[in-house]
Amino acid sequence: MSAPEPIIDHGHGDSRLLVRTPYTTTFAHMGEVYLYHDLYGYIIKMSPDILDFLNAFKTPVRPDEVCKQYANAFEEQTPEAFVGVFLQFGCLIKPDHDQVNDLWDMIPVHGSWNVWKREKDGGLTFYCCWGDNPLTKVTLTPDEAKVWWSIDGEKTLKTIQFDEQVAPEVVLGAVKKLGHHEVQALKLSALGMRFYKKRPQMKPPYLTSTMPYAKYEPGVDALPAPVESYFSPEGYYRGEIADADQQFDHEETTLAHLFRIPHPALHGKTYGQALTDALIAKGRVPEGHVKVLEIGGGLGFMAKAMVEALQAKGREVTYHIFELSPVLAAAQRERNAGLPVTVHMGDVLNDAFPDTGYDLVLANEMIGDLFAVKLDHARFGLGEGEIDDAKFEAGLDASGVAGALIRKYGVPIGDAPDPFYLNIGAWQLCERLIDVMKPGASAWITEFGDMGKWPLLSTHLDHPELSIHFGHLGLVAKQIGFDADFEFVMDTIEMRRDLEGLKSTRSYFKALGFLLAEYGVKLEKIGYTRPMFTELLEGKVQPGEIGDIGFDRIEDRLMGLVPHEFKALIIRKPVKVDA
Ligand SMILES: C[S@@+](CC[C@H](N)C(=O)[O-])C[C@H]1O[C@@H](n2cnc3c(N)ncnc32)[C@H](O)[C@@H]1O
Repeated sequence: MSAPEPIIDHGHGDSRLLVRTPYTTTFAHMGEVYLYHDLYGYIIKMSPDILDFLNAFKTPVRPDEVCKQYANAFEEQTPEAFVGVFLQFGCLIKPDHDQVNDLWDMIPVHGSWNVWKREKDGGLTFYCCWGDNPLTKVTLTPDEAKVWWSIDGEKTLKTIQFDEQVAPEVVLGAVKKLGHHEVQALKLSALGMRFYKKRPQMKPPYLTSTMPYAKYEPGVDALPAPVESYFSPEGYYRGEIADADQQFDHEETTLAHLFRIPHPALHGKTYGQALTDALIAKGRVPEGHVKVLEIGGGLGFMAKAMVEALQAKGREVTYHIFELSPVLAAAQRERNAGLPVTVHMGDVLNDAFPDTGYDLVLANEMIGDLFAVKLDHARFGLGEGEIDDAKFEAGLDASGVAGALIRKYGVPIGDAPDPFYLNIGAWQLCERLIDVMKPGASAWITEFGDMGKWPLLSTHLDHPELSIHFGHLGLVAKQIGFDADFEFVMDTIEMRRDLEGLKSTRSYFKALGFLLAEYGVKLEKIGYTRPMFTELLEGKVQPGEIGDIGFDRIEDRLMGLVPHEFKALIIRKPVKVDA
């Protein structure tokens, strides 16, 4: 849309004027912009043109005049409706009005993923580094800390001030510090949390959400590219990983990475050892010489563990890694020096494989990074009652390689959501594997996903990732000529379900790492169980001195992962492929 004309300021004395509150900050990520309210903690996602509209209120102005200028800007929505929403969420206010004075009847709620330590004088210091921000420390005075400890999700600020017998400005000072986007430790709610106990689906998402994205000032910062322009993320791996360890410790992690050390949840084995044992038990590894191909080897931990485990089981091993990222390839070579591991650079979908005749192929948590397509109903005439065959076929013709593969393998898309994604790259990987695997050889292919769930896009990382529709992948693999079994990864590696593990997010993990470093404790990206974490802090941090430390059932949450969401397709090339 075009830039708005300058609007005349009628002066602050005009009671019809509105202005954007100074307590909002804007952020952007993959083409979307977000508004964070630094007092209430509201997070409002919007398109850049709506932010433009709000910014027309940078200086006091009459809303009817702004609305006139934006009269036809928002298709079905009127600009007046947006004024209403912005008023409701405290983004537009009367000029010269300090919103902090409106808060006394609001109920403060602790935010999610806080990291703090108690000070000797009774104060509290919060450690914050949301997203890629550097560490910020914010300290509450002992009186402000009283406000923090008084928060129970039911009491209003007025009640807290009365209960704690602190000055009103102490309460408001604490709210300003804790609600600010750099801290995000406090949200304000109109209703107590008891209301949502039996109605969790009614709980406004901002109460538990956080804002990890980069700040964005329209006109100053470039709007980050929208998600579509990241597909395929293959370009990301080829070029953008700068620091190998940082990639797995901060950017993204995998189950294999969290379990790279012998782990109680795996009965004292590493992920690679547990997987080797499982594959041997399933008859997927031949006796004698074994030629392995690992696609996308991360930091090389799995290669090392698997080679050593296979050798311990009497196998002679040749192990190739096919890797796109030069930085990760270097880490793999270094970690596996002295072992029969060779690392070959290339893109598994477009470059020649290092060799053929593999007995075992491993693609662990990498197919979600492969090429995918986004399609919609309109193209195929879906969602309009009975499918019109001619329209459907024309849609396939217009969909390039995706259309050709849907047709070739008979992938059913009639029940697809609108729009929908297809994991085309993962299908093409299976097509390529049949040529490089020995008859009777198996491939272990894992990723976040499910048998019948359409691929879901996650955009919280610095590159988009898709979950896998294993039903489609299994169908394609079978059509290609493989036998295919579907399993939960945690069942294959015999992960214990009765343990609890430390839960974290990327930002929380970073902040906790900074805090613990001050105590001389090095926090690693491993799946800490309760006893492992207690042992880590032993003698260095007193119980209760730091927070919030939370644990969850290991299958539901471990660090930032949800282990039960990881599935495996184990495919086998028959000894004799039917012509
Ligand atoms: C999420 S990491 C998983 C690493 C490891 N397998 C694990 O489970 O920890 C994805 C890996 O696949 C690699 N990769 C991504 N796209 C690739 C491609 N097209 N060809 C080869 N490797 C690729 C990445 O560089 C990285 O090593």
